[in-house]
Amino acid sequence: MRDLKELRDEILNALQNAKPEEYESLKIKYLGRKGVITSVLRGLKDVPKEERKSIGMEANKLKKEIEDFFKLHSPEKGKTSSKKFTDYTLPGRKKNLGAFHPINRALDEIIDIFMRLGFSIEYGPEIESDYYNFEALNVPKHHPSRDMQDTFYIDGSDKLLRTHTSPVQIRTMEKSQPPIRMIAPGRCYRKDEIDPSHSPVFHQVEGLFVDRDVTFADLKGILSVFAREFFGPETKTRFTPSFFPFTEPSSEMYVSCVFCGGKGCNVCQHTGWLEVLGCGLVNPKVFEYVGYDRDKYNGFAFGLGVERFAMLKYGIDDMRLLFENNTEFLKGVIK
Ligand code: DAH
Repeated sequence: MRDLKELRDEILNALQNAKPEEYESLKIKYLGRKGVITSVLRGLKDVPKEERKSIGMEANKLKKEIEDFFKLHSPEKGKTSSKKFTDYTLPGRKKNLGAFHPINRALDEIIDIFMRLGFSIEYGPEIESDYYNFEALNVPKHHPSRDMQDTFYIDGSDKLLRTHTSPVQIRTMEKSQPPIRMIAPGRCYRKDEIDPSHSPVFHQVEGLFVDRDVTFADLKGILSVFAREFFGPETKTRFTPSFFPFTEPSSEMYVSCVFCGGKGCNVCQHTGWLEVLGCGLVNPKVFEYVGYDRDKYNGFAFGLGVERFAMLKYGIDDMRLLFENNTEFLKGVIK
């Protein structure tokens, strides 16, 4: 057994250090009819019975190792000419081109429109504190509107996964003075079951505009321009009363249905209108939290869901399609 181990080291060492032109003679030396391994296997019959089996197994293992080495290092089979022939008439290999994800496409367009309107881009952390996500947005503890958003809390801390991009409003106002025109795109998280219109991870774009003498007409003007730029010049907008703790008054913006143009269809449930975002005039209480003079400044804010905008624009009827990473679908969906 000991001899066999030594033999193995010796052979493998020789193979590792051999030059390709020596392979053929080594192959004969080890595996040939009179080769080393062949004679070891033949000699097995002289080995005492008790050891025969284990030595036999070991020897066969070594034989296989040597065979594998030559298999791996065998010169290409069927090589007839050493000169390579290139056929320039063959069609080229197609590169598999990628495509923008519909969420990114919609997001890029939204960002582009607001940049042209003079808005800057701000980012905030996805792991937020209770203070920025709720408190400073006028959502005090035990306030019923916290139930509107089922939150992922991080155990044993006041940290949570942000439920909306609104905390970026607070962070931006804390570090700068009016006038402010900013949007804040980013990922948000809520404890929602996955269904055709919900996902626990989704994207929003927040907007904030603060200056002196900002009115609801400014809000309607900017957001209507945005809607026409995004959905097309024929798009009409409509604003209905709503409630958010951080805006007063609060409103919901609707656009004329992008599928039927307002005539009524299944998508708009025959109303002709689609609800697309929440908005309102900044609640003066929010200004107090960031130390702005509530008598001097006012502003408007809005928040929109990027998935919804992408689905409406590209005619996607199930949000799950956006997250399943079916590349054929993702490539085909944007014309
Ligand atoms: N944060 C709200 C949500 O996630 C959306 C929203 C509504 C943002 C009105 C705003 C706003 O800035 O003014 O449901």
